[in-house]
Amino acid sequence: MKIILNGALGRMGEEVDNLIKKGYKGITVAAYCDVSSLTPEVYNKLSAITVEADAVVDFSHHSATETLCGYAIARNIPLVIATTGQTGEEMTVIQTAAKAVPIFLSPNMSAGVAFLNAVVRKAAAFFSDADIEIVERHHNRKVDSPSGTAKLLAETVSSATGGEIVYGRNGLSPRKKGEIGISAVRGGNVKGIHEVTFYSENETFTITHSAESRGMFAEGALTAALFLQGKKPGLYTMKDLFGDL
Ligand SMILES: NC(=O)c1ccc[n+]([C@@H]2O[C@H](COP(=O)([O-])OP(=O)(O)OC[C@H]3O[C@@H](n4cnc5c(N)ncnc54)[C@H](O)[C@@H]3O)[C@@H](O)[C@H]2O)c1
Repeated sequence: MKIILNGALGRMGEEVDNLIKKGYKGITVAAYCDVSSLTPEVYNKLSAITVEADAVVDFSHHSATETLCGYAIARNIPLVIATTGQTGEEMTVIQTAAKAVPIFLSPNMSAGVAFLNAVVRKAAAFFSDADIEIVERHHNRKVDSPSGTAKLLAETVSSATGGEIVYGRNGLSPRKKGEIGISAVRGGNVKGIHEVTFYSENETFTITHSAESRGMFAEGALTAALFLQGKKPGLYTMKDLFGDL
C-alpha cells in the first residue's frame, strides 16, 4: 500500500515516516506533503500531488480539514484523519466527505487507548454515582486543549451516566453532582497521559494510560489506512477496527 503523508515535517509525520522506512507492513510513501515545506521532496500543497496512492494519512492541523477532504473526494482516495482539534464546522465537512470516500477518524490511534475507552465505559456504568474527573497531560507544544482523547473519554462517560461535561474549573461554585470534569496540563515533552478517576465517599478508582512513545500513534494510523482498503464510503472509528471491547 502507498500513502500520501500530510503533515510530513511534524513530530508525528516523522514518526510515521520512520516506521514506514523500517518496512512496517510493506507500506511505502507515494508523496510527502507539509504546508511549511521549502524543499521539492515534500510538496507544500496536496493539490500538486497527482501520483497514485491508496490512502492519505493526515497528522497536520485541523485548519487543513476542508482542503484534505476536498482532495480525498476529488481523487477518490481513502483518508485517515489523525489530526485533532476540529471545530464543529470542520466535523461537518468530515461527515459530508465520508459520504463520498471512506474516512477513518480517531483523536487517538493507540490500541491501548481504544481499550482504555472500553474500560472507562464499563467503569462509568459501575461507578455511576461517583464524582468522575478526567486529567490529561501533554507536552508544551500541543495546540488543542483539552485533548481530543480526553473529550472522547468524557463523551463515553457522559453516555453512560448522562452527566454534563465541565471544562476546567475556575470561580466560586462547588462541584455539582453528576459533573464530568476535564482538566488539561501542559509541560515539557510529555507524550500523553490520560487519567480517569472515580471518587466515592469511601474509595477512589483511577485508570491511567501513558504514551511512552509516539510510535503507537503511527502504527495505529497505518493500521487504519490498511483497514480502509476496499471499504465503502463512511466514517470509521476505532470501534470499527476493534469491535466491542
Ligand atoms: N490521533 C492520534 O493518535 C494523534 C497522536 C498524536 C498527535 N495527533 C495530532 O496530530 C496533529 C499533528 O501533531 P504533531 O505533534 O505532529 O504536530 P506538529 O506541529 O509537530 O506537526 C504538524 C505538521 O503539520 C504541518 N501543517 C500544518 N498545517 C498544515 C496544512 N494545512 N497542510 C499540511 N501540513 C500542515 C505543519 O507544518 C507541521 O509540520 C495534531 O493535531 C495532534 O494533536 C494525533
